[in-house]
Amino acid sequence: MFAFNGGPGAVARSLIDVRSFLIFALVVLLVRIFISSLKKSKFLPPGPWGLPVFGYLPFIKVPHVSFKELSAKYGGIFSIQMGHQFVVVLSDYKLIREAFRRDDFTDRPDTQFSSILGKYGIINSEGSLWKNQRKFLHDRLRKFGMTYSGQAKDQMEARIMKEVEVFLMTLAKDKGAPTDLNPSLGTSISNVICSLLMSVRFTQSDAKFSRFMSLIAEGFRLFGALNYANFFPIMRFFPNAKSIMKKIDQNRSEMAEFFQETVDSHRNTFDSGNMRDLVDNYLLEIHDAKVGGYAEDLFEGLEHDRQIQQIIGDLFSAGMETIKTTILWTIVYMLHHPEVALKIQKELDTVVGRRRLPLLGDRPNLPYTEATILEVLRISSIVPLGTTHSTSRETELAGFKIPANSHVVPLLHAVHMDPNLWDRPEKFMPERFLNADGKVCKPEFFIPFGVGRRMCLGDVLARMELFEFVASLLHTFNVRTPEGTPLPSLNAMPGVTLTPEDFKVSLTLRPLVDSSHDFLNACHNIRTAGSH
Ligand code: HEM
Repeated sequence: MFAFNGGPGAVARSLIDVRSFLIFALVVLLVRIFISSLKKSKFLPPGPWGLPVFGYLPFIKVPHVSFKELSAKYGGIFSIQMGHQFVVVLSDYKLIREAFRRDDFTDRPDTQFSSILGKYGIINSEGSLWKNQRKFLHDRLRKFGMTYSGQAKDQMEARIMKEVEVFLMTLAKDKGAPTDLNPSLGTSISNVICSLLMSVRFTQSDAKFSRFMSLIAEGFRLFGALNYANFFPIMRFFPNAKSIMKKIDQNRSEMAEFFQETVDSHRNTFDSGNMRDLVDNYLLEIHDAKVGGYAEDLFEGLEHDRQIQQIIGDLFSAGMETIKTTILWTIVYMLHHPEVALKIQKELDTVVGRRRLPLLGDRPNLPYTEATILEVLRISSIVPLGTTHSTSRETELAGFKIPANSHVVPLLHAVHMDPNLWDRPEKFMPERFLNADGKVCKPEFFIPFGVGRRMCLGDVLARMELFEFVASLLHTFNVRTPEGTPLPSLNAMPGVTLTPEDFKVSLTLRPLVDSSHDFLNACHNIRTAGSH
């Protein structure tokens, strides 16, 4: 076909032949790719077509909003191509439950970020390391009081209440002046988790603590900045991505150093008869493994101390921002709905009285307070996309094929805002969580902590902390928007969690009736001292 017959005309003709052939071959190839992707997509969950190479990525603005719009169009399961990555989005709560109770949906995505963390810890770990670590943490955290009953629960309550009191005292000092809750709340919530993990607590002015917090905040920011490289792996070789990855690694090392100091000091003072915190429990585990001769297999052969460091980092980052953000949203909603705050205060006054702060034992008798916290968790959906899962092998869901290594996103925001499940979902209505007898009832489609095998490991602690902080704050203070300032926005700032925009609140102490409680008296003495 390409035989050379001589002469310039023949050369030109044969070049045209070659060009025509190449064009023809390219068209055949494209048609074959198109037909094969059509055939493949016949079995994949439905979804929008994107652009070649980029997929649907350029059309995604705010992910949870764009995904919710797509779920309205394509249904409770849809798929999109984001760069090189195939993503399945679930917004039907029954499908989320079905998928996440299965083993083949429990992996985490392989991303640039997880490659830096090296699958250590609990949040990014997989397979038998994840299974063993989850079991271990579940058991040890229960022993430290992440449970609804028993003596350990009382110790946990005491731990939380100590921080609640410091928090309220700090706020009382502002005597009604416009206050930003963020710094004092951040310190108090951090102290709850830090005392549980490693028996340390910080003050707001502690330089080490400030550095620690700024490293975490920067970590979240850098994690966001690196996101595009998760969808276009080639980009990790670009100078900008390389410098972000280097910075993430430097920050990780600095945090690791900080955690390692804690591990070393625990090692020096270790007493197997007195387990002070989670770090001690890990040291005991390592000690037992050495004695038992299986130290090399512990943590699936990963470095022992590095695993402890990452566990501290994981639990701190999962357990701090989420609770702080939920409490901030609660206050924002109380400012918008003073009638709800008043109803909570009336319930607290009746059940708890004006002599002490609310305790966990009061919770069953405070259904309206409890229902309000649940409604904040629903409407703010602070983790709108849950945490992405990944499929460990090719599998099937709702009759669709789900390829191996697909990213699977549980769209919690869409579940919590589904008008087919909730009456007027845009409306803030704590009553929706109360049944006809006035008792708290949670429908099975209320899933702020996720569901299934990888469901939040700290939900019990979260519920305890949210109750203690919110109920005590509203029992002690009236909350108002400062004079001359507008109500805080209900719009969320997108990020790893959906946080409220910055706002200030004016907190005035509520009158006491003959209090014999040291703490409430102390709060009032601050006011008295200030007013003279
Ligand atoms: C309002 C507070 C909280 C909310 C809304 C929340 C929500 C969630 C969600 C949606 C997930 C993802 C579940 C999944 O992968 O399907 C998760 C995972 C996790 N949470 Fe929470 N969480 C909160 C507080 C906490 C606290 C206080 C801790 C720790 C003490 C914690 C520890 C974890 C851990 C370790 C995981 C990963 C579990 C795993 O991968 O197996 N969380 N959380």
